[in-house]
Amino acid sequence: GKATLTVDKSFRLGEIDNRLYGSFIEHLGRAVYGGIYEPGHAAADESGFRKDVIDLVNELQVPIVRYPGGNFVSGYNWEDGVGPREQRKKRLDLAWKTLETNAVGTNEFADWCRKVNAEVMMAVNLGTRGPDEARNLVEYCNHPSGTYWSDLRISHGYEKPHGIRTWCLGNEMDGPWQIGSKTAEEYGRIACETAKVMKWVDPTIELVACGSSSRSMKTFPEWEATVLDHTYEHVEYISLHTYYGNRDNDTPNFVARSLDMDSFIRTVISTCDYIKAKKRSKKTINLSFDEWNVWFHSNDQDKKIAPWTEAPPLLEDEYTFEDAILVGCMLITMINHADRLKMACIAQLVNVIAPIMTANGGEAWRQTIFFPYRDASVYGRGVALQPIVSSPKYDSKDFTDVPYLESAVVYNEEAGELTLFAVNRSLDGKLPLEADLRSFGGLKVIEHLVYENQDPKAANTRENPDNAIPHQGGNASVDGGRLTAELPAFSWNVIRLS
Ligand code: AHR
Repeated sequence: GKATLTVDKSFRLGEIDNRLYGSFIEHLGRAVYGGIYEPGHAAADESGFRKDVIDLVNELQVPIVRYPGGNFVSGYNWEDGVGPREQRKKRLDLAWKTLETNAVGTNEFADWCRKVNAEVMMAVNLGTRGPDEARNLVEYCNHPSGTYWSDLRISHGYEKPHGIRTWCLGNEMDGPWQIGSKTAEEYGRIACETAKVMKWVDPTIELVACGSSSRSMKTFPEWEATVLDHTYEHVEYISLHTYYGNRDNDTPNFVARSLDMDSFIRTVISTCDYIKAKKRSKKTINLSFDEWNVWFHSNDQDKKIAPWTEAPPLLEDEYTFEDAILVGCMLITMINHADRLKMACIAQLVNVIAPIMTANGGEAWRQTIFFPYRDASVYGRGVALQPIVSSPKYDSKDFTDVPYLESAVVYNEEAGELTLFAVNRSLDGKLPLEADLRSFGGLKVIEHLVYENQDPKAANTRENPDNAIPHQGGNASVDGGRLTAELPAFSWNVIRLS
């Protein structure tokens, strides 16, 4: 069969917040040390940041980067990471059983973000700490001058405040693995009180409350309801996290997992709106999917890593082509919720379950998942449109009626560009696509990018970094406002028109 799309420029789902294409750097494994920061590397700049990595991050046009965790943040004393480097203390990081040198902290990370043109999404520690340390950090980062913490920042060489706008109230506080984990009641209360004082220091900030660590937590979605009951008027967003794997090597089922992400998002929206109704509030809470990706390849390897070493190679998944297909489906799913999902962070950015890999002292390269993430980030800015879609379907182990076509449409009015993102989930059949675009007038195809591979398990490695890369040879064409294209078997497609 064939798939069809009807797109109209007045079917506007919502403005896409650029922060939808965010990412994440945690003090974990080689994300910071050996990833973004490696003084002595041939490509390091005067501050020790790897320019080869900066170039790749710039290619992705990452708008915002969450920091410093993750599980790490729940045991982190931010004061350890500021001031003269030679006086910084080495600490045990209990989250990852690693030795933390604190060579990089808040100011260095803010410097790095300026180099890659990204905002910081700062997380505060609500595991071992609370409102006091959180409000001090806001004062240190955002208050201009004339107070203890702002003057301390200035004395550390940062005259100008960092102006950090987006803040996470802790991380995965529902998870028993979390340092200082809490019940929903306990977390809701501390998050509310922390939010109040942080905003009293800087009323311009936006806050994200922790939702569930995954939808498979026993406390989901009661956790969200209770937390929002306590925090509703003090926060702007609630977080979602999800990671998928293909442990039983069932590829049709694996690439359908974005349907699970879709229903997760829908359930969290419903829960937010239930509390809105309960509180008779005019305010709407939006969503921040601040950890999402494929994560499973490195699980066994990680069990063998010795504790208390510096920057061990943790969570270094080597991604395959099929992972990129699912990542593409997840990006499409998120674009299709742009009305309520305002931020998202692919977890993570460098070395740790990441689109970018590095060798210590060596090269940096693009993993398979780099490409759909780059395409969505670069071409997915503007207004998400709501197409009417029809597609042939299949059933898999956990899902029924999985459409072969997964698609999203983004209209960038400023650039006068329309972009169609489309995945064909079929492992062996090409999918003919027809799209009715007549409301746009005389559109022409700029390019049809295709990411396809004969081998679902193809990967880009240090030895063979360009093993699986996209090409521009798609065959999309338009005639009288009607687009036709053939989507190759098991492919990610970006059809750009203007
Ligand atoms: O991204 C890796 C880890 O996954 C994060 O530290 C944690 O928040 C999640 O469980």
